[in-house]
Amino acid sequence: MKIVVIGGTGLIGTKLINRLRPQGHELLAASPASGVNTITGEGLSEALKGADVVVDLANSPSFEDKAVLEFFQTAGRNLMAAEAAAGVKHHVALSVVGSDRLPDSGYLRAKLAQEAAIKAGKTPYTILRSTQFFEFMGAIAQSGTVGDTVRLSPALFQPIFSDDVVAALAEVTVGKPVNGTVEVAGPEKISVDEAARQFLRAKKDPRSVIADVHARYFGAELNDQSLTASNDKARLGTTRFADWLRSAVAA
Ligand SMILES: NC(=O)c1ccc[n+]([C@@H]2O[C@H](COP(=O)([O-])OP(=O)(O)OC[C@H]3O[C@@H](n4cnc5c(N)ncnc54)[C@H](OP(=O)(O)O)[C@@H]3O)[C@@H](O)[C@H]2O)c1
Repeated sequence: MKIVVIGGTGLIGTKLINRLRPQGHELLAASPASGVNTITGEGLSEALKGADVVVDLANSPSFEDKAVLEFFQTAGRNLMAAEAAAGVKHHVALSVVGSDRLPDSGYLRAKLAQEAAIKAGKTPYTILRSTQFFEFMGAIAQSGTVGDTVRLSPALFQPIFSDDVVAALAEVTVGKPVNGTVEVAGPEKISVDEAARQFLRAKKDPRSVIADVHARYFGAELNDQSLTASNDKARLGTTRFADWLRSAVAA
C-alpha cells in the first residue's frame, strides 16, 4: 500500500514510518520540511497521487486558542478535499481522549474541529484517540509553572508511551476504516500533579509541584473522567510510567 504520513517528521510520524516500512509498504513522510503543507496546500495533490491511506499526525506550531483552531480546521478541510480528489481509501487521524469533554480547552476544541472535518469528508476514516504521551510530561509541567512552582490538577489521567500509541496506530493504518473512533490509553491511572512530580524528580529539576483542583489543564479544569479512557473497550499500552522514567533518565 502507498501510505502518506502527514507530519511524518514528528515524534509519532517518525516512529510510525519506522514501524511500517519493514512490512513492505510504500511510505511517504509529508510535511513542510519535505515540501508538503496542509495549510497552504503546497505539494498536497502530488503527494497524495496513488495513495491508499493517509495518516494525519501533524500538529499546530502554535497552541494559542485561535491559531490552533485555524490550523486544525484549515488543514482538515484541505486534506479531506485533496483526499477525495485523489480517491484515497482510508483517512487515519490521531486525536485526544476527552477532546469532546473539555470545551474550555482551546487545544481540545481544535482537535474536535479536526474530527468534524474528517466526518464531513468523503473518505472512509478511523480516528484513534490517545491519552497524553509520556513525552508530553515536560510540556505539562511547563504549562503549570510560575517561578519555581508548578501548580497542576490532582485529577487522574492515563498517560501512555509513544511506542504504545504507534503500535495501535500501525494496526489501525493497515486495517479497515471503522468510520468511527477508537481509544488507546496507558496501562495505569495517576494524578497529573503526581506524574509531574515524579517526572521532575527523575530529571533532577528543582521545581516543586503543588496540587490545585482549580489549576487549568490547557484552559480546562479537570475531573477524574476528563482525560481517562471512556470505557473498558480502550486498547491499553503495556509500558509503565515508572519504567519509562527510568529509561528516559538513563538516556
Ligand atoms: N502530545 C500528546 O500527548 C498527544 C496526545 C494525543 C494526541 N496527540 C496528537 O498527536 C499528533 C502528533 O503529535 P506529535 O507530538 O508527533 O507532533 P510533533 O512531533 O510536534 O510533529 C508535528 C508534525 O506536524 C508537521 N506539520 C506542522 N505544520 C504542518 C503543515 N502546515 N502541514 C503539514 N505538516 C505540518 C511537522 O512538520 P515539520 O517537521 O516539517 O515542521 C511535524 O512533522 C498531533 O496531532 C497531536 O494532536 C498528541
